[in-house]
Amino acid sequence: APMKLVVTGGAGYVGSVCAARLVEAGHDVTVVDDLSTGHADAVPDGVRFIQGDAADVAETLLSQGFDGVLHFAAKSLVGESMQDPGLYWRGNVLTSLRLLEAMRKHGTPRLVFSSTAATYGEPEVSPIPETAPTGPTNTYGATKLAIDYAITSYARAHGLAATSLRYFNVAGAYGRYGERHATETHLIPIVLQVATGDRDRVQIFGEDYPTPDGTAVRDYIHVHDLADAHLLALEHATEGRHEIYNLGNGTGFSVREVIDACRAVTGHDIPAAVAPRRSGDPAVLVASAEKARAELGWTPQHTDLQGIVSDAWRFTQQRARA
Ligand code: UFG
Repeated sequence: APMKLVVTGGAGYVGSVCAARLVEAGHDVTVVDDLSTGHADAVPDGVRFIQGDAADVAETLLSQGFDGVLHFAAKSLVGESMQDPGLYWRGNVLTSLRLLEAMRKHGTPRLVFSSTAATYGEPEVSPIPETAPTGPTNTYGATKLAIDYAITSYARAHGLAATSLRYFNVAGAYGRYGERHATETHLIPIVLQVATGDRDRVQIFGEDYPTPDGTAVRDYIHVHDLADAHLLALEHATEGRHEIYNLGNGTGFSVREVIDACRAVTGHDIPAAVAPRRSGDPAVLVASAEKARAELGWTPQHTDLQGIVSDAWRFTQQRARA
């Protein structure tokens, strides 16, 4: 049945794709975004848009009676979180606590929260199940984990039906919605910037990891599949329960494999140079998403690396022409 939903961060990468999918599924969507990192022209068609801080807006907006909130709005740069932790504790934790309080006050029944693989830190087992110990190695991951704990308490005490989705490496694009960060740190968009000529070469951060080719391995998940998991999470949410699901494909690709896929898709040489490891980067991060498959009935459809890169490349070229 159609739901009346608030999407915070709906002008950002993952938030805009999810909001677009929610509209296509027939839901009534209000996007709240302060445009600090999002883009006004990324707000999907067919939504109501309110520019402002997620917590500030929620405190009054939720009195209108909503079926749920999807909370994407966040600070998400690992390096920045180490240099300016206050920005992350305030921007992520404080904002989320105020949002939870507003939801409690106005009786908003459902929450879907964007958590992260960074809550696990350096994993002991691979692929990583939700039962793996958490131990974030950076402030960004610590703030997301703190919010997960707060959500668990609110679900228990106040009956909230909550889901945290722990994203692995989100990539690709959906229609006119894709990744366009002012400060780009993610591998695939950086490699594609070499293909468009906006960058001379890509740096490979570390070639001495205990992996088959020595470069770090990640689990790349298409943003379209990620969005579908959010729709399923809304449907499966249960009063008083907080469920946590890892979202990844269960397959890892090395930095070199990603660069090769980008070469194949773009037809560009893409010069690469080996550089030192980036501090805090685990060698291998691969998800076990068995729980999402079993409980949500989630089946990722866009798991082919070249396919993921092709969609990102189409989006990049589309933006270059615009
Ligand atoms: N990398 C390079 N060169 C670059 C950029 C990245 O070699 O120019 C490497 C990184 O060192 C890493 C891999 O490519 O091994 C992927 O890096 P990304 O920055 O694309 O993604 P991360 O795996 O670092 O980040 C992801 C999520 C974050 C989350 C983090 C937790 O995007 O939100 O996992 O470790 F915090």
